[in-house]
Amino acid sequence: MKVRVITAIIIGMILVAAMAVAEQNTVAEQNTVAEQNKGAKDMELFGGTKGIVPFPHHTHQETLKDCNVCHEAFPQAPGSIEKLKAEGKLKKKQVMNKQCVKCHKEKKKAGEKTGPTSCSKCHQKKADG
Ligand code: HEC
Ligand code: HEC
Ligand code: HEC
Repeated sequence: MKVRVITAIIIGMILVAAMAVAEQNTVAEQNTVAEQNKGAKDMELFGGTKGIVPFPHHTHQETLKDCNVCHEAFPQAPGSIEKLKAEGKLKKKQVMNKQCVKCHKEKKKAGEKTGPTSCSKCHQKKADG
């Protein structure tokens, strides 16, 4: 009789532990999904007097595989480039020259798929002004 009670208690404890682990796993999965917030698929970046710069964000993620080629210079948050420029932590055109144009030129030189390198191919004036 005593053995049965102890066995029942042990099984009960194992079940509780297993449920706790299962619970933890769901939380972990949710965290992973949250951590992989890839941001907007396409965006328009502020380009000053030259006009806005349409930027295919997810195409770059898929082609380059590494978030940090860009995000080492600015955080994964909307408007972070303009915020850092306003704080004087990024120079005007720094991202453009040190990242966008630099990489596109390097890829072009290497004969690989690349993006635009001329002003008007990146900067676009809005149709309505
Ligand atoms: C080729 C450059 C580049 C790469 C690579 C890149 N990003 Fe971004 N990302 C940007 C730019 C530019 C912005 C806009 C920043 C701004 O608004 O000032 C941005 C903004 C974001 C934002 C905030 C905007 C939003 O829509 O929520 C998130 C989140 C983000 N990126 C996640 C990622 C993740 C995750 C990866 C890797 C899988 C990645 N990015 C790779 C350039 C890049
Ligand atoms: C590959 C795309 C690309 C090309 C090519 C490009 N730009 Fe840009 N430009 C950007 C991006 C992205 C920004 C915003 C980020 C930054 O300021 O670094 C920007 C910002 C700017 C700004 C505004 C800076 C500010 O903060 O006021 C000016 C002006 C500008 N570019 C002029 C030019 C001129 C002139 C050329 C051609 C010689 C050129 N751009 C070519 C992408 C590009
Ligand atoms: C580390 C390299 C790298 C950086 C940094 C980078 N690009 Fe690109 N970009 C590429 C490559 C590679 C392609 C070609 C992608 C493809 O076709 O799969 C591309 C393509 C593009 C295209 C053309 C997309 C199309 O549909 O034809 C645009 C526009 C562009 N990039 C803008 C930008 C802007 C703006 C920035 C800076 C905010 C930037 N890129 C930063 C590598 C880079």
